[in-house]
Amino acid sequence: MKRRAFLGSITGPVVAACAVCMGACSKTGGDSFTSGGVAANFNVDLLTNLTTVGSSILQSGVVIVRLAAANVPASFTAVQAACTHQGTLINYNQAANKFICPNHGATFSTTGAVTQGPATNALKVYTVAISGLIMTVTG
Ligand code: FES
Repeated sequence: MKRRAFLGSITGPVVAACAVCMGACSKTGGDSFTSGGVAANFNVDLLTNLTTVGSSILQSGVVIVRLAAANVPASFTAVQAACTHQGTLINYNQAANKFICPNHGATFSTTGAVTQGPATNALKVYTVAISGLIMTVTG
């Protein structure tokens, strides 16, 4: 496949992941990068999203995970989707109950703390509020 055709065929999750990474990363000079969380203020309908314990969604640069059944803020965690090492999109691993970066293997607790390098900075944690079945994520 020619380069132009290949680039034209990339859509969906790849584009979303790149958008998250590019929005969260900034080059600071030389070969060093910093990755920070984006500003967030959005709603999630809990009637159709995050309906089971362990489920997660990615929205607006934030990964949200349901950790318990009750529809209360303490049942959820919301952290920046971009790894603080070099900005790769992290994944929530339900079996290990932690976030894992597939790039270099950094891991983070559900509170965003680094549990394994090479990342050295914690993930940004967002505030979750719930009214009825509407979750609001801010930060
Ligand atoms: S980008 Fe996540 S560990 Fe390197």
